[in-house]
Amino acid sequence: MEFSVEIEILARVRHQNLLSLRGYCAEGKERLIVYDYMPNLSLLSHLHGQQAAGCLLDWGRRMNIAIGSAEGIAYLHHHATPHIIHRDIKASNVLLDSEFQARVADFGFAKLIPDGATHVTTRVKGTLGYLAPEYAMLGKAKENCDVYSFGILILELASGRKPIDYSSLTTSNQTITEWALPLARKQRFEEIADRKLNGHFVKEELRRMVLVALICTQSKPEKRPIMLDVVDLLKGVSKEKLLDLEDNELFKPESAASYQGPEDSGRKFEADVKTNERANAI
Ligand SMILES: Nc1ncnc2c1ncn2[C@@H]1O[C@H](COP(=O)(O)OP(=O)(O)OP(=O)(O)O)[C@@H](O)[C@H]1O
Ligand SMILES: [Mg+2]
Repeated sequence: MEFSVEIEILARVRHQNLLSLRGYCAEGKERLIVYDYMPNLSLLSHLHGQQAAGCLLDWGRRMNIAIGSAEGIAYLHHHATPHIIHRDIKASNVLLDSEFQARVADFGFAKLIPDGATHVTTRVKGTLGYLAPEYAMLGKAKENCDVYSFGILILELASGRKPIDYSSLTTSNQTITEWALPLARKQRFEEIADRKLNGHFVKEELRRMVLVALICTQSKPEKRPIMLDVVDLLKGVSKEKLLDLEDNELFKPESAASYQGPEDSGRKFEADVKTNERANAI
C-alpha cells in the first residue's frame, strides 16, 4: 500500500490509549511521521532504564497502564476499520502521558487486515522475547500474536523483569513465562511482584494480572483470549470470567507437561527480529 494511503488510514485511528499520528512528510525517499511528545517517556524507561531508579510506577499506575494499553489494543483489533494488528507490542512502544496514562505507539509495523481475511502472511517484524512462537515460525500475523506480546508486556510490568534475562541464559529459568508459571501454579504471587514495589500492591489485582498474562502467552494461539476479554479480566468486571480464569487447566499443578515453553520456537528464530538490547540501553 502506498505510504500516504496507509498513513491516512492510521491517522484516522483515535483512542485515548493510542498515540495517534499528528502528521507526516513524504519527499523523495524521505519519510517522516510526527507524534505528540510523551513527557513520561516509555514503560521501558521506567522498568529498566533512565527512570527506573525514581520508582514512579506504583501499583495503581501499573494496573491503570495494563488496563489502558489493553483497551488501546482491543480498539485496534475490534473497533478500528480496517482492523489493525500491531505486531510490535513491547515496553518501549507503550508511552506514558503527563498523567501516566498508557498510549500504545508505533504503528510503523502495524498491519491492516482486509475485510474477511483471517490473517496476513508477512515478513516477521517484532522483538525477541515478545514474539508469539507461531508468528516467529510461520510469519502468520493474527490478532492473537498481539495477545501473546501483551501477555509478556504485563508480566514484565508486574514483575519488573525483562522478557528474556540474557544474564541467566545458561540456567533453566530463561524467559519470564518459564520463570513465572511455576510460581503462579504454587500460588506464590508475591514472589512475582516487582521488588521495587516493596510489597505495596493489591494482592488480588496482582494475581489477576499474572494469571491474565499467562493465559495470553500460551503456546497454542487458539487458547489465548481475545483483547476484549483481556480488558474485562483485568478490570475484574465479571465474576464468572474470573472464576473461569482461575480454573484454567494451565494453572493446575499437574498440567506441567501440557505447557510448552512459549519461547521455545521464538528463541530459535532470528532473521529480521530485533533483540531488546538496544532498547535496554535507554
Ligand atoms: N512520542 C514519543 N514521546 C516520547 N518518547 C518517545 C516517543 N516516541 C518514541 N519514544 C521513545 O523513543 C525511543 C525510540 O523509539 P523508537 O520507536 O524509534 O524505537 P523502539 O520503540 O525502541 O523500537 P522500535 O523501532 O522497534 O519501535 C523509545 O524509547 C521510545 O519509547
Ligand atoms: Mg517504538
